[in-house]
Amino acid sequence: MPSERPSPVPLTATATGPLKGRVRVPGDKSISHRALMLGALAIGETTIQGLLEGDDILATVAAMRAFGAIVSRTEPGHWRIKGVGVGGFLEPEDAIDFGNAGTGVRLALGLVGSQAISATFTGDALLRGRPMGRILDPLRRMGVQVLARSKDRLPLTIKGPDITLPIEYRLPVPSARVKSAILLAGLNTPGITTIVEPTLTRDHTERMLTAFGASIEIDSNEDGERIVRLEGRRDLKAQQIVVPGDPSSAAFLIVAALLIEGSDLTIEAVLLNPMRIGLIETLVEMGGDIAIDNRRTVGGEAVGDIRVRASRLRGVTVPPERAPSMIDEYPILAIAAAFAEGTTVMEGLAELRIKESDRIAAIAAGLLANGVTVEEGPESLAVTGGAARIGGGATVTTRLDHRVATSFLVLGLAGQAPVTIDDFGSIQTSFPEFQALMNGLGAHFERAGPAAA
Ligand code: S3P
Repeated sequence: MPSERPSPVPLTATATGPLKGRVRVPGDKSISHRALMLGALAIGETTIQGLLEGDDILATVAAMRAFGAIVSRTEPGHWRIKGVGVGGFLEPEDAIDFGNAGTGVRLALGLVGSQAISATFTGDALLRGRPMGRILDPLRRMGVQVLARSKDRLPLTIKGPDITLPIEYRLPVPSARVKSAILLAGLNTPGITTIVEPTLTRDHTERMLTAFGASIEIDSNEDGERIVRLEGRRDLKAQQIVVPGDPSSAAFLIVAALLIEGSDLTIEAVLLNPMRIGLIETLVEMGGDIAIDNRRTVGGEAVGDIRVRASRLRGVTVPPERAPSMIDEYPILAIAAAFAEGTTVMEGLAELRIKESDRIAAIAAGLLANGVTVEEGPESLAVTGGAARIGGGATVTTRLDHRVATSFLVLGLAGQAPVTIDDFGSIQTSFPEFQALMNGLGAHFERAGPAAA
């Protein structure tokens, strides 16, 4: 996984006709990371169908190989992984490079922290700039040693003790990645590792641990907080995993179909975990015609087909408590808001400042450049829709952020004038098929135009 990116390639999206038909989006990124990691620790051969094959996940594939798991691709989206058993990771010879994958590296720090080996982690320039302290603090309490050149940033080396200590940890921030890193460390920790979760976050790790046969219990206390208890040093059994479509990728198609007149699009087999569908809830409140058909359960997760018909949207206030269930979807919600009647107010967005980019700033700047009225607060964003002409402004600076890049391409597909992004390379991390999939629905992109200053 190369740490440095090739030169930026600008891309222009122009207005497209109605989006019609049935499509599928690639596998869920969160579940893909977890399937590879638990497969790497399980006894036996895990098969994964529908694995996302974006750069972020390929970095996790490379990491699991470096720790001794045997990982092979049998056909597109189909992978096999022979695990080494809980506690069986080998010490890697070289640094593990996670590229741009913020989730991959954070989960891996937990996974590796409780193994009695030392491993060095690095990433691209953006990942090296992102804080890791909220993962490293609880790991240190478990006995993991951390050596970093600059405080709690990559590159860093961790060294697990012979025996990690089980901790009870109350999540100071609503973060599924912090929760998951501790649970993954708990797998090779004797005794019971306990998480107290005051605000619910996505629970894919808990669901998948249950499927792999881990000893895990979920409860709530008298204050309504969620308690997760995991007993460590128990074997995991290899599984057959089917990864549902990623709702965070489906989000771009859902918003495009709502905004482009005459659209009637069905996105099949999308993950509908309750902690991932805040965007759908919000778009329905805004007047979006969205129906879920064919609801089913796949591998312990809710899945369904999402039918979207073009709709007139109106602005709403999105409450802060909804943020964990749509944390990656604010960039594309802001695009929907740019076309809605009235103002959409999004609150409780502090976490967006430390995602792949400062997403509050990136969205605000991109919308302003395209003639949309935006107000940026420290933890909020207010977008007023309905400008006479949207798009055709300066090139949008995507700050190498895949979700910002894809969102602004949707603005160009739905707007009255073309929109150019400075680089579409980042989209490779999570939705490499985006352009081809949209081309198949009649959308048009051009690889031209000057890069943003
Ligand atoms: C993720 C959790 C979220 C999300 C990220 C993926 C996960 O991050 O933004 O894209 O797979 O657990 P936080 O839990 O750190 O907010």
